[in-house]
Amino acid sequence: MIDLSTTYMGFKLKNPIIAGSSGLTDSVDKITELEKHGASAVVLRSIFEEEILLEMNAKLKQMSSNGFVYPETVNDYDYYEDIEEGTTYKYLKLIREVKSTVRMPVFASINCVSSTNWTYFSKQIEDAGADAIELNLFILPTDFKHSSTENEKVYFDIVAEVQKQISIPVSVKISYYFSNLGKLIQDISKSGAKGIVLFNRYYSPDIDIEKMEINSGFVLSNPSDMSISLRWIAIMTGRVNCDLIASTGVHHGKDVIKQLLAGAKAVQIASTLYTNGPQQIGVMLEELKIWMGSKKFESINDFRGKLSQKNTNNPAAYERIQFMKYFRGYK
Ligand SMILES: Cc1cc2nc3c(=O)[nH]c(=O)nc-3n(C[C@H](O)[C@H](O)[C@H](O)COP(=O)(O)O)c2cc1C
Repeated sequence: MIDLSTTYMGFKLKNPIIAGSSGLTDSVDKITELEKHGASAVVLRSIFEEEILLEMNAKLKQMSSNGFVYPETVNDYDYYEDIEEGTTYKYLKLIREVKSTVRMPVFASINCVSSTNWTYFSKQIEDAGADAIELNLFILPTDFKHSSTENEKVYFDIVAEVQKQISIPVSVKISYYFSNLGKLIQDISKSGAKGIVLFNRYYSPDIDIEKMEINSGFVLSNPSDMSISLRWIAIMTGRVNCDLIASTGVHHGKDVIKQLLAGAKAVQIASTLYTNGPQQIGVMLEELKIWMGSKKFESINDFRGKLSQKNTNNPAAYERIQFMKYFRGYK
């Protein structure tokens, strides 16, 4: 009997494939379909801090007589009743409906860049029934007046403010645009976050040379995009206080196996679901099962992290950047 179960942030997942946040996780029907095909958990499409603040500010303006808003007012503001057709209302409604329809854990996701009043909304998300909140954090370091420490402080402030509001677990999904990435990941893991997702994939600009215009780069990933995540999952495994989840470039069963060998607790997938449909989850799980059988592994723990940097007998393999032998040998 092969056991595919794993754990993440204290939840027992029936297998290591989580449907990551995307347009495929924004409705009850789509999420039900993902569960039917084997997803072990789902991260809802992110709601943006700006969307929360927009509705919150509009309402608070009505509520405040002299323009001053007491913090308690923000705290008591009931998103669920006030703006029935608003984005926040719809997000909470989605959480409630999804939670009453599927059995797998449901993680809400907030795209945020500051630790301002929007953080009160996390409590409403908890009350709506979400099992955890994933903070999708990204501040592109283009304000050159700020040091990297000042930029990074915002991440910790956000995690702290959200944790003040809720008791469900918080995870953090980040990019790799940091000057001291390993230390940052370690520090986030000590901040109380129960999971870190390595890494998000962002909108990237491209240039259309015929029209001479800026347009959108590739939205979906390729399997070759997995290498950065694989490297950092392997390097950080055994060196953090929380669970690591791999995201970006996981398209096939063999990609899941690689990330588990590197030390990931689970993977999040999005692009392969767009390309191959939700049934790809079943295909990937089958590939994982066949491989485990061929290696005589009965559970994920039999091999998870076996090739992390700490466990491999070739730790330098994850640190070689300018690999002379590799580049010179490539004729
Ligand atoms: C169309 C699309 C929409 C996405 N929307 C979100 C989002 O709302 N929030 C988020 O945290 N990530 C979002 N992502 C990022 C994915 O969750 C994932 O981290 C990224 O695509 C890398 O994984 P992949 O290679 O499996 O696609 C989106 C990705 C795609 C392709």
